[in-house]
Amino acid sequence: MARKKIALIGAGNIGGSMAHLALLKGLGDVVMFDVIEGLPQGKALDLSHAGPIEGFDGNVIGTNKYDDIAGADVCIVTAGIARKPGMSRDDLLGTNAKILTSVADGIKKHAPNSFVIVITNPLDAMVTLMQRALGFPKNRVVGQSGILDSSRYRSFIAKELNVSVKSVHAMVLGGHGDDMVPVRSSCIVGGVPVEKLIPAKRLDEIEARVRNAGGEVVALLKTGSAYFSPASAAIQMTDDFLFDKKEILPCAALLEGEYGVSGYYFCVPVMIGAGGVEKVIDINLNAADKKAFDESLSHVKDIVQAMNRVLGVA
Ligand code: LAC
Repeated sequence: MARKKIALIGAGNIGGSMAHLALLKGLGDVVMFDVIEGLPQGKALDLSHAGPIEGFDGNVIGTNKYDDIAGADVCIVTAGIARKPGMSRDDLLGTNAKILTSVADGIKKHAPNSFVIVITNPLDAMVTLMQRALGFPKNRVVGQSGILDSSRYRSFIAKELNVSVKSVHAMVLGGHGDDMVPVRSSCIVGGVPVEKLIPAKRLDEIEARVRNAGGEVVALLKTGSAYFSPASAAIQMTDDFLFDKKEILPCAALLEGEYGVSGYYFCVPVMIGAGGVEKVIDINLNAADKKAFDESLSHVKDIVQAMNRVLGVA
């Protein structure tokens, strides 16, 4: 069986980490695309030198030409600028909307059958733009947000209780912004609801930290945003797609009636398999979570409208 082809559009920090992970996990051949000359080529050459040590045979190339992503099975988009301290994800809108419009052209022309995962911020608007510009069916365009946000929640809970991260399951839904929704009732530690293990007041603090975790990393790095963990999240989605795993994960999917939402990308639990986003899992949120979910949705609607104004779309 021929190896799968994974195209990484953007060879910055997340792109480099994803290439490394995809090769280590043997997911396929990797093409790193970037507009900066030498950057993807240099990272690809360096990664290829790790092959003999790590024992991976996947090919990796760097390129500045979209032609090289031809026939990719998966395209993962990180192209665009990242946050600096003091910036919100929304501040990136104008610049990244223009960049993603041209990325969509490249993908549409050269990888028209691919599964497309968007990571670029502001995520909920950028994945909306990508699906519209590509015209691909909704199951083939998805946003990475909730796996990362949920993983942050899981990591904080695991540290708090001094248990394995594997024993902690959690879900963060809604927009990928400061009003994302950690669903406390879905946070389970070894089969036990977290509310039985950690007092409510402490959970409030942990959840506030989850909502600000991306910003906490930006404030420390000063020159960019998180990359190891977003890379891991998108590679998990890639693995689920390529190997038809049918895992249920929180991702930004286009809703058409589910959760009472129509026409917006929003993070909800979905099933990812060979068909891409094969199913949206519509769970019954309690009143408090539904209220937070709706507040987050109104923010996503605002940012999509702002994007439409930037793009001159009615
Ligand atoms: C974050 C960025 C990658 O949450 O959205 O860190």
